[in-house]
Amino acid sequence: MLLYVNLRVLNTRNEVVPNAMVEVWQASPVGMYENQDPQQPEMNLRGHFFADENGRVSFKTVRPAGYPVPTDGPVGTLLRKQARHPYRPAHLHFIVVAEGYSTLISQVFSDDAEYLDSDVVFGVTRDLVGSFESHAASTGPLAETGEPYYTLDYSFVLSEGESTRPTPPIK
Ligand SMILES: [Fe+2]
Repeated sequence: MLLYVNLRVLNTRNEVVPNAMVEVWQASPVGMYENQDPQQPEMNLRGHFFADENGRVSFKTVRPAGYPVPTDGPVGTLLRKQARHPYRPAHLHFIVVAEGYSTLISQVFSDDAEYLDSDVVFGVTRDLVGSFESHAASTGPLAETGEPYYTLDYSFVLSEGESTRPTPPIK
């Protein structure tokens, strides 16, 4: 299912933060990242954007599915001992970088996802659940596709601080 994402970057005074760098990475509709899935091309479902002067970023993608974390090592042993499932609810990952603000690394979860109240890695908070709205074909921002789709509208709020970026490889 197609997804149209509308993002806004604000600060804690509810003011627009212009020109932030926004990177996104997400799993596919079958719940796999491109580096796990030989069916997907390199860098599939990974984006690198800059917000406009009004703090806005919009892009077209597909809805991600939730996925299980690997259970073939000690994490699997722990989960089995705790009688817990290995699933994460569907989400998109983001990093937001703007001069004068602390770098935000975050996730936005689908409000209709399974496992929202039992994320295996305890990553869900109320503020991280996005509002996904369904649209009929031939209406709204993806009308030209002729397919039904979803929109996600979400605002990131940056705190003043030091703008840093993690240096790969991240361990
Ligand atoms: Fe993820």
